[in-house]
Amino acid sequence: MTAKPRLLTGDRPTGRLHLGHYVGSLANRVRLQHQYESFFIIADLHTLTTKPEPEHIKDIPLYIKETVLDYLAVGIDPQVSTIFVQSAIPETYQLNLLFEMLVTVPRLERMPTLKDMARDANIDSMPFGLLGYPILQAVDILLPRAQVVPVGRDNQSHVELARELVRRFNNLYGETFPEPEPIIGDVPLLVGTDGQNKMSKSLGNAIYLSDDAETVRQKVMNMYTDPKRLRATDPGTVEGNPVFIYHDAFNPSKAEVDDLKERYRQGKVGDVEVKQKLAVAINNFLEPFREKRAYFLAHPMIPNDVLANGIRRMQAEAKATMELVREKTGLSYSLDLFVDQVDIFGEYDG
Ligand code: TRP
Repeated sequence: MTAKPRLLTGDRPTGRLHLGHYVGSLANRVRLQHQYESFFIIADLHTLTTKPEPEHIKDIPLYIKETVLDYLAVGIDPQVSTIFVQSAIPETYQLNLLFEMLVTVPRLERMPTLKDMARDANIDSMPFGLLGYPILQAVDILLPRAQVVPVGRDNQSHVELARELVRRFNNLYGETFPEPEPIIGDVPLLVGTDGQNKMSKSLGNAIYLSDDAETVRQKVMNMYTDPKRLRATDPGTVEGNPVFIYHDAFNPSKAEVDDLKERYRQGKVGDVEVKQKLAVAINNFLEPFREKRAYFLAHPMIPNDVLANGIRRMQAEAKATMELVREKTGLSYSLDLFVDQVDIFGEYDG
């Protein structure tokens, strides 16, 4: 049996995951985990690039738990995949420093994402660590020597930087890391319930995978639809209308969706009926996730062990990679070298 190629991707722990995460990446991961040996990182250190304050750090443990529960609920299988927390891997900090030597400041300043992140976080002067965000991401990818990295378009430039770092490293110190390939999701971003922006926690327009049925129903009934349609008898627009985008994404009955679209265009159905049927469809879609989440919450030792095993596994991988890096770079000092072992100054012939 030949080993499967390795995959790494993940999320910053910023809260519960929503339908946008599901269609944008989680569904894909659940599929890919059988094709690749998969590592899913909960990247808590990355949150410090914009939020290093203790009042933000104190939220991280809860958000890590939410993320693990959501991963398990949607079907990431800890029997085949490794889920771990970034800050629990000491080699992350070590390799980050070495990679910092291999990239220039202007190269990082050209990354379009970092300025946006600074602006969104109301930061007016670029922190050194935020400039290093993609270096840290390259470390995540390369500690398990991952070959494929499924990410959204917003992270494509970061994977490109990881590829450059690999070429530079291998060039200087000899073949060490594989050049990781991005797998760019081609699903369009899911619009939020406001119909204006992509679904996002900070905009308050998200339906969470863990929302209960009544919460989902209320969010759907308050959704934005066709603003030009005032009465149920007015012909409405289906294209770009968020309730129909969601029907297409989550309602398995194509016949029902086609019928609703047809009647909507003709002014023969009210928003209420369209939304009620949508709420039912989304609730049916989410129900298996809710059941699994409830099961893991009722058996907390399971998610606990998933993380313990994931961290243990990743620590072993990171240790092996860092050994190799020390060997390749020649940075192989350790205390052992000077204690009882060989007399290294005895070899001095200068
Ligand atoms: N930067 C990713 C985000 O958008 C999170 C992340 C951290 C990541 N390390 C990674 C994604 C490594 C893929 C690979 O939140």
